[in-house]
Amino acid sequence: MTEAAWLPSPGDGIAEGIAAAIRERTPVEPAAGVVLGSGLGRVIDIAGQAAGRSDGVEFSYEDLPGFPSPSVLGHAGRMWIGELGERPVVVFRGRLHFYEGHPMALAALTSRVAALLGARVMVLTAAAGALDRALDPGTLVVLRDHINAMGENPLRGWRMPDGSPPFVDLSQVYDPDLAAAALAAAAPVVEGVYAAVSGPSYETPAESESLRRAGGTVVGMSVVPEAVAARALGMRVLGLSFVTNAAGVQVSHEEVLVASETASEAIGRVLVEVLGRF
Ligand code: HPA
Repeated sequence: MTEAAWLPSPGDGIAEGIAAAIRERTPVEPAAGVVLGSGLGRVIDIAGQAAGRSDGVEFSYEDLPGFPSPSVLGHAGRMWIGELGERPVVVFRGRLHFYEGHPMALAALTSRVAALLGARVMVLTAAAGALDRALDPGTLVVLRDHINAMGENPLRGWRMPDGSPPFVDLSQVYDPDLAAAALAAAAPVVEGVYAAVSGPSYETPAESESLRRAGGTVVGMSVVPEAVAARALGMRVLGLSFVTNAAGVQVSHEEVLVASETASEAIGRVLVEVLGRF
């Protein structure tokens, strides 16, 4: 067996099995998939209140055959599927990170599962460190583009169901209409470029400076695998990151989780605004 043959990719049965297990539990066909980053677990409750209605079911990734459980504090490893306001959505409370040891292709599993369930939009949220020193913790950064400095491409080894490699156009990963809607719905908010690193260690000051000079606004350890996979699957992508700390200065994961908790409020409201617009 060649290496490419066992790297997770469409048609391998992994996402297909998970999607089938979800369909057995609920008839809801989500229009959008949402991935909640570290410490953002409360977003569903907040969005439900803002939308005036939330009606859904929630279950653990452990109940879905083939779905690895996230091992990171602050990532619940639960999936919510239902309606927020009038919009059917699937919300992944916890993602699979490259730094946990998962292959890049598996770090993109959420996008594959959402696409199989029928979602045409992927909303990716994530805590991030500010490379731009003018950004205060608490600022929402709507992604305009990204730099993949993770050292690997999430589509390596992928075969599309017809057997072809996915030579995907990434000239516009993040959907401008969704980004404009998010920018209009939040404050403080800026548009920016997400520099993705593999982690799990945070950046040295020199690494932060080099990513900033390369054009990064914020730095984080996720988003890119799911965003690139979503584009390969023809989905529209909204990237929302939230500044929890200045990059390259002393930072702890606990500090990031506390700052993310306060971000839940803003992201919940933006989510409802954006979901109402497509
Ligand atoms: N670096 C990388 N990822 C992060 C950071 C950071 O400073 N803060 C939150 N996620």
